[in-house]
Amino acid sequence: MSFQQKTVPATSSFVVIRLIIRFTKHLTAQQESDMDIDEKEIRRFQSTISKHSTYDFSEYSVNSLKRRLSKLLKDYGSDFNRLIMTIESDAVVMEQVVKRITVNTTELFRDPKIWRNIMLELLPRFSTYPSINVWHPGCSTGQEVYSMMIVLDQLGLLERSNIFASDLNTDVLEKARAGTYRLRFNREYVDNFNEVFQQGVNGRPEQEYKPFRSYFSIDETRDLIRMNKFLCEKPVYKKIDLVMDDNPFFMNFDIIICRNVIIYFNYALQNRVLSLFHRNMHENGCLVLGLHESIIGPCGNLFTKRDHFYVKRDNKT
Ligand SMILES: C[S@@+](CC[C@H](N)C(=O)[O-])C[C@H]1O[C@@H](n2cnc3c(N)ncnc32)[C@H](O)[C@@H]1O
Repeated sequence: MSFQQKTVPATSSFVVIRLIIRFTKHLTAQQESDMDIDEKEIRRFQSTISKHSTYDFSEYSVNSLKRRLSKLLKDYGSDFNRLIMTIESDAVVMEQVVKRITVNTTELFRDPKIWRNIMLELLPRFSTYPSINVWHPGCSTGQEVYSMMIVLDQLGLLERSNIFASDLNTDVLEKARAGTYRLRFNREYVDNFNEVFQQGVNGRPEQEYKPFRSYFSIDETRDLIRMNKFLCEKPVYKKIDLVMDDNPFFMNFDIIICRNVIIYFNYALQNRVLSLFHRNMHENGCLVLGLHESIIGPCGNLFTKRDHFYVKRDNKT
């Protein structure tokens, strides 16, 4: 287990931008075509990151790394060799590259049908529990954490829930804590909310669920969606790298919701991470993965699939 970071000096975004500009230059047509990164270069990138940081991308999907690296080189107007030289010598740029190489896409009530399943099938399993421990590994900017807290609140379970969330990237964790999002890119949040709650909660008629204003406000003038304070203050956020770290929360979980994260890992790493989740769940705890993720291989017999989630098997039976 390791939480130790190689020293990265505290730095303002201005300094970071200056450092990034230091290895950028204008693209020529030749350099544009050089952005087709081959597997040898991916291996070089992976070994450079492993050698010069505490991160390890050696078991990430090669195709995803190729796409992300090409985009990064295009955005920075740099070529591959220059990028490698810069991250070898500059821990701040290296940290920025790590943050940009991972995909942070998320939204409030992403895949609303899954959230209805979580509300109607998964959470009622825990409705008599005195406390419910929930962990969101790979939470990105927090929309998934807010979605879960809203559903828990609609079911009257939020007060007795303990919410933990983590990510590799400290920038997204800061945004998650703030709970403020641009309205212009996220207008669908209200539609998603209504899709989850339009049929009421637990058979109660539609008008009995709380409206979205109980959870977030919309500020058209400032172009903002703001989560309400009681939601922002509830979760404990922590930087955790699923490749290198163990569970630092010193407790087992009833629910682990890790959507659209292991899709970027190869088969061996997926199974190590699934086994980490399994070790840190209570019997009958539930694991939620993304729509296009599933449990295959050695971890398959540790869980039973139910609708859109997996239940930890009781190993004693
Ligand atoms: C596509 S987002 C998923 C966000 C959210 N779970 C959802 O489905 O809406 C993937 C997140 O996984 C994080 N991530 C990638 N590799 C990770 C690792 N090794 N440890 C922890 N988080 C990681 C990324 O930083 C990113 O925020």
